[in-house]
Amino acid sequence: MNKILVTGGCGYIGVHTLVDLIENGYDVISADNNSRSSDTILESVEMITGKKVKNYKVDLCIYDDTFAIFQENPDISGIIHFAAYKSVGESVKKPLLYFENNLNSLINILKCADEFGISNFVFSSSCTVYGNPDSIPVTEESPMKTAQSAYGATKQMGEQIVREAVNCNSSKAILLRYFNPVGAHPSTLLGELPLGKPENLVPAITQTAIGKLPMMQVFGTDYPTRDGSCLRDYIHVCDIAHAHTLAFNYLLEHKDEANCEVFNLGTGNGYTVLELINEFEKMSGVKLNYRLGPRRPGDVIAIYANNDKAKNVLGWNPKYNLGDMMATAWKWELKLKDDENIFNTKNAGLN
Ligand code: WQD
Repeated sequence: MNKILVTGGCGYIGVHTLVDLIENGYDVISADNNSRSSDTILESVEMITGKKVKNYKVDLCIYDDTFAIFQENPDISGIIHFAAYKSVGESVKKPLLYFENNLNSLINILKCADEFGISNFVFSSSCTVYGNPDSIPVTEESPMKTAQSAYGATKQMGEQIVREAVNCNSSKAILLRYFNPVGAHPSTLLGELPLGKPENLVPAITQTAIGKLPMMQVFGTDYPTRDGSCLRDYIHVCDIAHAHTLAFNYLLEHKDEANCEVFNLGTGNGYTVLELINEFEKMSGVKLNYRLGPRRPGDVIAIYANNDKAKNVLGWNPKYNLGDMMATAWKWELKLKDDENIFNTKNAGLN
């Protein structure tokens, strides 16, 4: 059975990918320092799949600790590298934190992959590598414009680092450019768990709707889009997860083809912020408390994917529509609220 090391395995996309890999016959281990996640989420992976996943609570920016994972697991046949900070807004405020964390961890993982002769590598890239594209939808051949945030820059540099690394040791890599991952696992056992105030749109919507946040802001309504708010390609996290399984199947089946392949992971449909809010209100019946605010530095104006290559080459077919994305995200938020109420009730008598 092929063993895959999933770095950032306790994160939002990582944990959904663990489930998909296990359901498709892969053996998995996780490496996640839990600085922005919790390894208790792996209990949910076990509830869904019946498999207990080991997490190495390691800062991948520390080479020796990263190396030790590979020493203990000489049977790793491939790596999926998610571990990175991923907030566009935060990266504009803290660029050096993003360059240090996202690039040092990647370089250490690639050095270990080379050291241990691991030649199958999937890199978590992002549509932010396109910057503000001249035309949309973007294909994998669309030019990389200037990154609009340090986060996007770490993904542009990350892709280049992976290309150079696999070219020089003739290993193989797939770069998956995610558009906007949203939603939650249909079981409602997995979902997005933002630490503190959510940076991303969909958790900001669901937390406002459930009353965790008093109000949310629409960052900018003067953009050159159909309603003035930014346009994005929202893609269900389970569709993103399954693309990783297909990417590994592809690497294992195409051992001697091109070193480094790139794929866009988006639905091919673009929706604005205001359209997403309307979709949520329609699905949930909840009137959202939001105000129209100023632009957020680092935001791309409009982008959505041409996903033909992933469909034709990987056989990837995203199956969740926008309604599913909003419904699963909302169900997850409701479940978190129920869990919190149960916890408070159980502990009420203890105070
Ligand atoms: C979307 C839109 C905000 C919050 C994400 C990931 C990044 C990458 C690309 C994978 C923007 C607006 C947001 C709010 C708002 N994906 N917004 N009010 O910036 O596109 O980046 O997708 O690698 O990792 O983070 O997503 O959800 O932050 O913002 O108006 O309270 O929603 O301005 O226009 P973004 P986002």
